Amino acid sequence: MLVSAKEMLDKAKAGHYAVGQFNINNLEWTKAILLTAEECKSPVILGVSEGAGKYMTGFKTVAAMVKAMDESLGITVPVALHLDHGTYEGTKACIEAGFTSVMFDGSSYDINENVEKTKELVELSHKNGISIEAEVGSIGGEEDGVVGMGECADPDECKMVADLGVDMLAAGIGNIHGVYPENWAGLSFETLDAIQQKTGAMPLVLHGGTGIPDDMIAKAISLGVSKINVNTECQLVFAEATRKYIEAGKDQQGKGFDPRKLLAPGTDAIKAKVKEKMELFGSVGKA
Ligand code: 13P
Repeated sequence: MLVSAKEMLDKAKAGHYAVGQFNINNLEWTKAILLTAEECKSPVILGVSEGAGKYMTGFKTVAAMVKAMDESLGITVPVALHLDHGTYEGTKACIEAGFTSVMFDGSSYDINENVEKTKELVELSHKNGISIEAEVGSIGGEEDGVVGMGECADPDECKMVADLGVDMLAAGIGNIHGVYPENWAGLSFETLDAIQQKTGAMPLVLHGGTGIPDDMIAKAISLGVSKINVNTECQLVFAEATRKYIEAGKDQQGKGFDPRKLLAPGTDAIKAKVKEKMELFGSVGKA
């Protein structure tokens, strides 16, 4: 069931668990995540970066594929199709293409321009029944071409943006996209706590979910995080399972080269990873 992310995140915030956002790249990714959400009776958010949207030939293709797949698989759990780190133009394009949720990442602008653009896009999203995420303070590392320095967000600026009526807020708290470096200082729970005190019931979003230790995830949820984004970890397990299949020579046995066989171990690995994360985030059985 394709829906806006608002209700599922408000419920998660009130129930002290988090909904996973898993990024999609193609049909296999989408199918694996939808089937796992259904099996786990968990709400889910499918994340699409602008780069992945382009790769899949455009936001309209993505929206049509997800809508049709959701129907043909008979998915009953709430599913949001969400733009990840959208530009101003990309956000508008996704609203038009039929996404049910968007993120406008205005963190590279100064706070006044971020506020001004976010405000306009909040109005547009809500007029179309779509939920919207905003960002304050950048997430470190690179997400499909979007590079951030990783500075911690200012809680007062978070309140300014939350007050614009956004449905969820991503705030930098020392999190980084991609694999964490050996010398990573960890999440700044002090910052997170200060942000949650200023923003109250606002569902907070933790980007860079790959590789954050389980105890830090639990603490982040206890301090108001209701949405956690995972991308790299699914890519890593997909690549590893595919490599093992080929290195074992299975693509050369019988019809092992058939793409439906060749891509199956990677797809199964994504399913297992998504299930593991849903259990960790506490969203199983919450649909
Ligand atoms: P990872 O790739 O580090 O899991 O981050 C995903 C993310 O935050 C998408 O916005």
